[in-house]
Amino acid sequence: MLRRRNQVQNDSASGRRLEGQSAIVTGASRGLGALVAERLARAGANLALTARSEGPLEEVAARARRHGVQVITVPGDISDAAVRAKLVDNAETAFGRIDILVNNAGLFETAPFTSVDPATIDDILAVNMHAVLHLMHAVLPGMAERGHGRVVNMSSLAGRVAPAYSTVYATTKAGEIAASNALNAEYRGTGVTVSAVCPGWVTDTGMWHDAAASRGVTTSRLAGKTTPSKVVRAVMKVIDTGLPEIYVNTPPIRPMLVLGESSPRLRHFMLRLLGVHRAFKRAAELD
Ligand SMILES: NC(=O)c1ccc[n+]([C@@H]2O[C@H](COP(=O)([O-])OP(=O)(O)OC[C@H]3O[C@@H](n4cnc5c(N)ncnc54)[C@H](OP(=O)(O)O)[C@@H]3O)[C@@H](O)[C@H]2O)c1
Repeated sequence: MLRRRNQVQNDSASGRRLEGQSAIVTGASRGLGALVAERLARAGANLALTARSEGPLEEVAARARRHGVQVITVPGDISDAAVRAKLVDNAETAFGRIDILVNNAGLFETAPFTSVDPATIDDILAVNMHAVLHLMHAVLPGMAERGHGRVVNMSSLAGRVAPAYSTVYATTKAGEIAASNALNAEYRGTGVTVSAVCPGWVTDTGMWHDAAASRGVTTSRLAGKTTPSKVVRAVMKVIDTGLPEIYVNTPPIRPMLVLGESSPRLRHFMLRLLGVHRAFKRAAELD
């Protein structure tokens, strides 16, 4: 009897626990964003999805609708203020409110810093940083007023360990961690949480896979990696718990982060030892 009751509780906890809630997911046309969108739909959340590639975005929306939720799409460039305004307005009109914002869209570079075109620096900042801040700025007041909201910023381990040959990306990912922590402190006690999800190298899909794995770049086992399903699970976990920061990578990363906090010099040594800078250098096709 007790087992059955626990089973029912587990089912409802892991089943459609976001039924009736609504979520914005940026960068939902492929990679991690598409998987996060489908997982949120499976949990019962209505969705407003955005990315520039309209066809793939509509395919993700169609897959999400199979879970019996409403899905709207707002194709466009998230660095454009008009696209962001349309996304938020359309979501509020369709669903009445926004409960969850997943700032997932991201641009990535692997190149020596001074060889990055200045326009590319601006593009990466616009998507990874400005759009993230402005979307939070737009949705947080409504969340606070209703006493409930979850913002998930898809940051990266790169935001903590700052690998070489990815300076602009690492800068924006560090910014997302800082913004999440500052806002989480500011909104404490309001029912609204802002979390940073920080995956390491993700296998099978996404920007690292596209940029590096397809070029035959291998990474050391000690530096670790993660899978798309673990990242999606981490997103669901911070939505459930409001955890401020979560690192998604195989275990050795934790002691390294702790040691790195105590000594930046040691962190640099460990990153060199684990071949992290080298992997980014290879992904930049310099090695
Ligand atoms: N993959 C990894 O190893 C890894 C590790 C750590 C963190 N992350 C983070 O996870 C997030 C998702 O990455 P991913 O690996 O899934 O990358 P991805 O496969 O390259 O997907 C990026 C998504 O962002 C969208 N996007 C890019 N620029 C946009 C713009 N200007 N306006 C609107 N949408 C835009 C893309 O859609 P369109 O091109 O159709 O616009 C796409 O849907 C990123 O924030 C990334 O930093 C990834």
